[in-house]
Amino acid sequence: MRVAMLTGGGDCPGLNAVMRAVVRKGERIYGDELVGFVDGWRGVIERKLRPLSVETFRGTLPRGGTILGSSRTNPFKLDGGVEACQRAMQEERIDALIAIGGEDTLGVAAKLHDLGLKVVGVPKTIDNDLSATELTFGFDTAVQIATEAIDRLHTTAESHHRVMVVEVMGRHAGHIAVWSGIAGGATMILIPEEPFDIEVVCEALKKRHAAGNYASIVVVAEGAIPKEGSLQLASRERDQFGHVRLGGIGNTLAEEIEERTGFETRVTILGHVQRGGTPTAFDRVLATRFGIAAIDAVHDGAFGQMVALQCGNIVRVPLTAAVGQLKTVDPDLYHGVAEYFFAG
Ligand code: F6P
Repeated sequence: MRVAMLTGGGDCPGLNAVMRAVVRKGERIYGDELVGFVDGWRGVIERKLRPLSVETFRGTLPRGGTILGSSRTNPFKLDGGVEACQRAMQEERIDALIAIGGEDTLGVAAKLHDLGLKVVGVPKTIDNDLSATELTFGFDTAVQIATEAIDRLHTTAESHHRVMVVEVMGRHAGHIAVWSGIAGGATMILIPEEPFDIEVVCEALKKRHAAGNYASIVVVAEGAIPKEGSLQLASRERDQFGHVRLGGIGNTLAEEIEERTGFETRVTILGHVQRGGTPTAFDRVLATRFGIAAIDAVHDGAFGQMVALQCGNIVRVPLTAAVGQLKTVDPDLYHGVAEYFFAG
Protein backbone atom coordinates (compact mmCIF):
# COMPACT_ATOMS: atom_id res chain seq x y z
CA MET A 1 0.00 0.00 0.00
CA ARG A 2 1.01 3.60 -0.43
CA VAL A 3 0.40 5.12 2.99
CA ALA A 4 0.68 8.83 3.81
CA MET A 5 1.07 10.51 7.19
CA LEU A 6 0.62 14.05 8.42
CA THR A 7 1.10 15.85 11.72
CA GLY A 8 -1.28 18.74 12.45
CA GLY A 9 -1.89 21.31 15.17
CA GLY A 10 0.59 22.25 17.87
CA ASP A 11 3.70 20.09 17.85
CA CYS A 12 4.18 17.59 20.64
CA PRO A 13 7.06 15.48 21.98
CA GLY A 14 6.62 11.96 20.58
CA LEU A 15 5.40 12.81 17.06
CA ASN A 16 8.58 11.49 15.47
CA ALA A 17 8.37 8.34 17.61
CA VAL A 18 4.87 7.61 16.23
CA MET A 19 5.98 8.05 12.62
CA ARG A 20 9.14 6.03 13.18
CA ALA A 21 7.03 3.11 14.41
CA VAL A 22 4.59 3.40 11.48
CA VAL A 23 7.44 3.39 8.98
CA ARG A 24 9.28 0.50 10.63
CA LYS A 25 6.30 -1.83 10.67
CA GLY A 26 4.85 -0.50 7.41
CA GLU A 27 8.03 -0.89 5.41
CA ARG A 28 9.45 -4.01 7.00
CA ILE A 29 6.40 -6.11 7.79
CA TYR A 30 3.76 -4.92 5.33
CA GLY A 31 6.03 -3.87 2.46
CA ASP A 32 4.34 -0.44 2.30
CA GLU A 33 5.58 2.66 0.54
CA LEU A 34 5.42 5.57 3.05
CA VAL A 35 5.10 9.27 2.27
CA GLY A 36 4.53 12.33 4.44
CA PHE A 37 2.48 15.45 3.76
CA VAL A 38 4.46 18.43 4.99
CA ASP A 39 2.92 20.93 7.46
CA GLY A 40 -0.35 19.19 8.26
CA TRP A 41 -3.45 19.67 6.09
CA ARG A 42 -1.71 22.56 4.32
CA GLY A 43 0.68 20.04 2.76
CA VAL A 44 -2.25 17.99 1.45
CA ILE A 45 -3.92 21.04 -0.09
CA GLU A 46 -0.67 22.32 -1.59
CA ARG A 47 0.43 18.81 -2.57
CA LYS A 48 3.71 19.02 -0.66
CA LEU A 49 4.85 15.54 0.15
CA ARG A 50 8.10 13.70 0.72
CA PRO A 51 9.12 10.05 0.74
CA LEU A 52 9.59 8.48 4.17
CA SER A 53 11.61 5.41 5.09
CA VAL A 54 13.23 3.69 8.04
CA GLU A 55 16.34 5.70 7.17
CA THR A 56 14.43 9.01 7.36
CA PHE A 57 13.66 8.39 11.01
CA ARG A 58 17.08 7.26 12.19
CA GLY A 59 17.96 9.09 15.42
CA THR A 60 14.54 10.73 15.75
CA LEU A 61 13.11 8.68 18.66
CA PRO A 62 14.32 11.16 21.32
CA ARG A 63 13.77 14.21 19.12
CA GLY A 64 10.91 16.61 19.94
CA GLY A 65 8.77 18.40 17.36
CA THR A 66 7.90 16.81 14.04
CA ILE A 67 10.29 16.35 11.16
CA LEU A 68 7.26 16.64 8.84
CA GLY A 69 6.32 20.10 10.08
CA SER A 70 2.88 21.14 11.26
CA SER A 71 0.26 23.85 10.81
CA ARG A 72 -3.19 24.80 12.04
CA THR A 73 -4.65 24.82 8.51
CA ASN A 74 -8.33 23.86 8.32
CA PRO A 75 -9.35 22.68 4.80
CA PHE A 76 -13.00 23.30 5.66
CA LYS A 77 -12.26 27.02 6.12
CA LEU A 78 -10.49 27.46 2.79
CA ASP A 79 -12.16 27.84 -0.60
CA GLY A 80 -11.76 24.53 -2.41
CA GLY A 81 -9.79 23.09 0.52
CA VAL A 82 -11.80 19.89 0.85
CA GLU A 83 -11.80 19.19 -2.89
CA ALA A 84 -8.03 19.82 -2.95
CA CYS A 85 -7.57 17.18 -0.23
CA GLN A 86 -9.69 14.66 -2.11
CA ARG A 87 -7.84 15.31 -5.37
CA ALA A 88 -4.46 15.00 -3.63
CA MET A 89 -5.34 11.57 -2.28
CA GLN A 90 -6.47 10.34 -5.70
CA GLU A 91 -3.80 11.86 -7.89
CA GLU A 92 -0.94 11.01 -5.50
CA ARG A 93 -2.34 7.45 -5.37
CA ILE A 94 -2.60 7.42 -1.57
CA ASP A 95 -4.32 4.24 -0.35
CA ALA A 96 -4.61 5.40 3.26
CA LEU A 97 -3.76 8.41 5.41
CA ILE A 98 -2.62 8.38 9.04
CA ALA A 99 -3.50 11.74 10.62
CA ILE A 100 -1.67 12.47 13.85
CA GLY A 101 -3.23 15.34 15.74
CA GLY A 102 -5.55 16.73 18.36
CA GLU A 103 -9.23 17.65 18.26
CA ASP A 104 -8.85 19.98 15.27
CA THR A 105 -6.74 17.75 13.01
CA LEU A 106 -8.79 14.68 13.90
CA GLY A 107 -12.02 16.65 13.55
CA VAL A 108 -11.04 17.40 9.95
CA ALA A 109 -10.07 13.73 9.50
CA ALA A 110 -13.49 12.60 10.76
CA LYS A 111 -15.32 14.91 8.36
CA LEU A 112 -13.14 13.89 5.41
CA HIS A 113 -13.74 10.24 6.29
CA ASP A 114 -17.48 10.90 6.00
CA LEU A 115 -16.72 12.13 2.47
CA GLY A 116 -14.89 8.91 1.62
CA LEU A 117 -11.28 9.50 2.70
CA LYS A 118 -9.50 6.42 4.04
CA VAL A 119 -8.04 7.77 7.23
CA VAL A 120 -6.85 6.44 10.60
CA GLY A 121 -6.23 8.83 13.52
CA VAL A 122 -3.54 8.96 16.19
CA PRO A 123 -4.30 11.16 19.23
CA LYS A 124 -1.77 13.84 20.04
CA THR A 125 -1.77 16.79 22.40
CA ILE A 126 0.21 17.88 25.40
CA ASP A 127 -3.13 19.13 26.81
CA ASN A 128 -4.45 15.52 27.18
CA ASP A 129 -7.96 16.79 26.46
CA LEU A 130 -9.02 14.26 23.81
CA SER A 131 -11.90 11.99 24.69
CA ALA A 132 -11.87 8.22 24.23
CA THR A 133 -8.22 7.87 25.17
CA GLU A 134 -6.97 7.95 28.74
CA LEU A 135 -3.75 9.62 27.70
CA THR A 136 -2.19 11.33 24.73
CA PHE A 137 1.56 11.24 24.21
CA GLY A 138 3.30 14.53 25.02
CA PHE A 139 1.26 15.07 28.18
CA ASP A 140 3.69 13.21 30.42
CA THR A 141 6.58 15.26 29.02
CA ALA A 142 4.73 18.55 29.54
CA VAL A 143 3.86 17.62 33.13
CA GLN A 144 7.48 16.69 33.80
CA ILE A 145 8.75 20.03 32.45
CA ALA A 146 6.16 22.03 34.41
CA THR A 147 6.88 20.10 37.61
CA GLU A 148 10.61 20.74 37.32
CA ALA A 149 9.88 24.44 36.87
CA ILE A 150 7.64 24.52 39.95
CA ASP A 151 10.30 22.69 41.99
CA ARG A 152 12.79 25.39 41.04
CA LEU A 153 10.38 28.23 41.77
CA HIS A 154 9.82 27.00 45.34
CA THR A 155 13.30 27.95 46.49
CA THR A 156 13.32 31.41 44.96
CA ALA A 157 9.76 32.06 46.24
CA GLU A 158 10.82 31.10 49.76
CA SER A 159 14.01 33.16 49.66
CA HIS A 160 12.07 36.32 48.80
CA HIS A 161 8.79 35.56 50.62
CA ARG A 162 6.94 35.96 47.37
CA VAL A 163 3.88 34.64 45.62
CA MET A 164 4.90 32.92 42.40
CA VAL A 165 2.29 32.56 39.67
CA VAL A 166 3.15 29.81 37.18
CA GLU A 167 1.15 29.79 33.94
CA VAL A 168 1.05 26.43 32.17
CA MET A 169 -0.63 25.36 28.90
CA GLY A 170 -4.17 24.03 28.80
CA ARG A 171 -6.60 25.85 26.60
CA HIS A 172 -9.87 24.18 27.57
CA ALA A 173 -8.75 21.68 30.17
CA GLY A 174 -6.49 21.93 33.19
CA HIS A 175 -4.81 18.51 33.10
CA ILE A 176 -1.26 19.90 32.96
CA ALA A 177 -2.00 22.40 35.74
CA VAL A 178 -3.55 19.78 38.02
CA TRP A 179 -0.89 17.12 37.52
CA SER A 180 2.11 19.46 37.72
CA GLY A 181 0.48 21.44 40.54
CA ILE A 182 -0.03 18.32 42.63
CA ALA A 183 3.40 16.92 41.78
CA GLY A 184 5.07 20.26 42.52
CA GLY A 185 3.21 20.92 45.78
CA ALA A 186 1.47 24.08 44.55
CA THR A 187 -0.50 26.23 46.97
CA MET A 188 -3.34 26.66 44.49
CA ILE A 189 -4.33 25.33 41.10
CA LEU A 190 -6.64 27.30 38.79
CA ILE A 191 -8.15 25.57 35.75
CA PRO A 192 -10.58 26.40 32.91
CA GLU A 193 -13.16 23.92 34.22
CA GLU A 194 -13.59 25.79 37.52
CA PRO A 195 -13.89 29.58 37.10
CA PHE A 196 -12.08 31.24 39.99
CA ASP A 197 -13.05 34.15 42.19
CA ILE A 198 -10.08 36.50 42.57
CA GLU A 199 -11.33 37.54 45.99
CA VAL A 200 -11.36 33.92 47.21
CA VAL A 201 -7.86 33.36 45.79
CA CYS A 202 -6.48 36.44 47.55
CA GLU A 203 -8.22 35.69 50.86
CA ALA A 204 -6.79 32.15 50.83
CA LEU A 205 -3.29 33.51 50.21
CA LYS A 206 -3.63 36.06 53.02
CA LYS A 207 -4.84 33.35 55.39
CA ARG A 208 -1.93 31.10 54.44
CA HIS A 209 0.68 33.81 54.90
CA ALA A 210 -0.90 34.98 58.18
CA ALA A 211 -0.57 31.41 59.45
CA GLY A 212 3.19 31.68 59.09
CA ASN A 213 3.73 30.43 55.55
CA TYR A 214 6.06 32.78 53.83
CA ALA A 215 5.69 31.88 50.16
CA SER A 216 3.05 30.55 47.77
CA ILE A 217 2.95 28.95 44.35
CA VAL A 218 -0.18 29.50 42.26
CA VAL A 219 -0.38 27.29 39.17
CA VAL A 220 -2.78 28.63 36.56
CA ALA A 221 -3.78 27.02 33.27
CA GLU A 222 -3.64 29.49 30.38
CA GLY A 223 -7.36 28.94 29.75
CA ALA A 224 -8.43 29.51 33.36
CA ILE A 225 -11.23 32.05 33.60
CA PRO A 226 -12.37 34.31 36.40
CA LYS A 227 -15.95 34.02 37.60
CA GLU A 228 -18.19 36.51 35.82
CA GLY A 229 -17.66 40.00 37.12
CA SER A 230 -14.61 38.94 39.11
CA LEU A 231 -11.87 40.10 36.74
CA GLN A 232 -11.79 41.49 33.17
CA LEU A 233 -9.59 39.79 30.55
CA ALA A 234 -8.43 41.28 27.26
CA SER A 235 -9.99 39.86 24.05
CA ARG A 236 -7.64 38.20 21.57
CA GLU A 237 -7.34 37.07 17.93
CA ARG A 238 -8.54 33.64 16.72
CA ASP A 239 -7.01 30.93 14.50
CA GLN A 240 -8.69 28.97 11.63
CA PHE A 241 -10.31 26.61 14.13
CA GLY A 242 -11.76 29.55 16.06
CA HIS A 243 -9.42 29.20 19.05
CA VAL A 244 -8.40 32.34 20.88
CA ARG A 245 -4.62 32.72 21.18
CA LEU A 246 -4.08 32.45 24.90
CA GLY A 247 -1.26 33.32 27.26
CA GLY A 248 -1.47 36.21 29.65
CA ILE A 249 -3.84 35.19 32.44
CA GLY A 250 -0.72 34.71 34.62
CA ASN A 251 0.24 38.38 34.29
CA THR A 252 -3.24 39.64 35.11
CA LEU A 253 -3.48 37.29 38.06
CA ALA A 254 -0.09 38.29 39.45
CA GLU A 255 -0.93 42.00 39.22
CA GLU A 256 -4.25 41.49 40.99
CA ILE A 257 -2.77 39.34 43.72
CA GLU A 258 -0.03 41.87 44.45
CA GLU A 259 -2.49 44.75 44.49
CA ARG A 260 -5.11 43.02 46.66
CA THR A 261 -2.79 41.25 49.14
CA GLY A 262 0.26 43.49 49.19
CA PHE A 263 2.47 40.39 48.79
CA GLU A 264 5.28 40.76 46.30
CA THR A 265 4.29 38.58 43.33
CA ARG A 266 6.13 37.33 40.26
CA VAL A 267 4.93 35.44 37.21
CA THR A 268 6.53 32.70 35.11
CA ILE A 269 4.83 31.80 31.84
CA LEU A 270 6.18 28.42 30.75
CA GLY A 271 4.64 28.61 27.26
CA HIS A 272 6.14 26.55 24.48
CA VAL A 273 8.98 25.25 26.64
CA GLN A 274 6.39 22.64 27.69
CA ARG A 275 6.05 21.45 24.11
CA GLY A 276 9.67 21.44 23.08
CA GLY A 277 12.51 19.02 23.46
CA THR A 278 12.86 15.34 24.06
CA PRO A 279 9.88 13.15 25.06
CA THR A 280 9.95 11.23 28.34
CA ALA A 281 10.44 7.47 28.22
CA PHE A 282 6.71 7.03 28.89
CA ASP A 283 5.76 9.20 25.91
CA ARG A 284 8.23 7.41 23.62
CA VAL A 285 6.69 4.07 24.52
CA LEU A 286 3.08 5.29 24.15
CA ALA A 287 3.89 6.98 20.84
CA THR A 288 5.57 3.83 19.54
CA ARG A 289 2.58 1.68 20.55
CA PHE A 290 0.20 4.12 18.83
CA GLY A 291 2.31 4.07 15.64
CA ILE A 292 2.32 0.27 15.44
CA ALA A 293 -1.41 0.16 16.13
CA ALA A 294 -2.12 2.79 13.46
CA ILE A 295 -0.40 0.92 10.63
CA ASP A 296 -2.12 -2.29 11.77
CA ALA A 297 -5.46 -0.44 11.63
CA VAL A 298 -4.69 0.67 8.07
CA HIS A 299 -4.08 -2.93 7.01
CA ASP A 300 -7.25 -4.09 8.75
CA GLY A 301 -9.18 -1.45 6.81
CA ALA A 302 -10.27 0.19 10.09
CA PHE A 303 -10.82 3.60 8.50
CA GLY A 304 -12.58 6.36 10.41
CA GLN A 305 -11.05 4.93 13.59
CA MET A 306 -8.49 6.34 16.02
CA VAL A 307 -6.06 4.32 18.12
CA ALA A 308 -6.47 4.99 21.84
CA LEU A 309 -5.23 3.97 25.27
CA GLN A 310 -7.82 2.38 27.54
CA CYS A 311 -7.02 0.45 30.71
CA GLY A 312 -3.42 0.09 29.58
CA ASN A 313 -4.41 -1.47 26.24
CA ILE A 314 -4.30 0.05 22.77
CA VAL A 315 -7.78 -0.08 21.25
CA ARG A 316 -9.64 1.44 18.30
CA VAL A 317 -12.43 3.96 18.71
CA PRO A 318 -14.43 5.91 16.10
CA LEU A 319 -12.80 9.25 15.28
CA THR A 320 -16.11 10.89 16.09
CA ALA A 321 -15.93 9.59 19.68
CA ALA A 322 -12.58 11.26 20.12
CA VAL A 323 -13.50 14.69 18.83
CA GLY A 324 -17.14 14.97 19.91
CA GLN A 325 -16.42 16.30 23.37
CA LEU A 326 -13.32 17.45 25.22
CA LYS A 327 -12.00 15.41 28.11
CA THR A 328 -11.88 17.72 31.09
CA VAL A 329 -10.31 17.30 34.52
CA ASP A 330 -12.04 14.78 36.78
CA PRO A 331 -13.84 16.92 39.40
CA ASP A 332 -12.93 14.37 42.09
CA LEU A 333 -9.25 14.84 41.36
CA TYR A 334 -9.57 18.62 41.36
CA HIS A 335 -11.79 19.01 44.41
CA GLY A 336 -10.26 16.15 46.34
CA VAL A 337 -6.79 17.62 46.04
CA ALA A 338 -6.89 21.27 44.94
CA GLU A 339 -9.39 22.35 47.58
CA TYR A 340 -7.19 20.79 50.20
CA PHE A 341 -4.44 23.15 49.07
CA PHE A 342 -6.84 26.12 49.18
CA ALA A 343 -7.12 25.55 52.92
CA GLY A 344 -3.54 26.52 53.40
O1 F6P B 1 -3.01 22.60 21.60
C1 F6P B 1 -1.89 22.54 22.37
C2 F6P B 1 -1.44 23.89 22.79
O2 F6P B 1 -0.15 23.71 23.28
C3 F6P B 1 -2.34 24.63 23.79
O3 F6P B 1 -2.13 24.25 25.10
C4 F6P B 1 -1.98 26.06 23.52
O4 F6P B 1 -3.01 26.91 23.86
C5 F6P B 1 -1.76 26.09 22.06
O5 F6P B 1 -1.35 24.80 21.69
C6 F6P B 1 -0.74 27.11 21.61
O6 F6P B 1 -0.75 27.13 20.23
P1 F6P B 1 0.31 27.89 19.31
O7 F6P B 1 1.58 27.10 19.35
O8 F6P B 1 -0.32 27.88 17.98
O9 F6P B 1 0.50 29.24 19.91
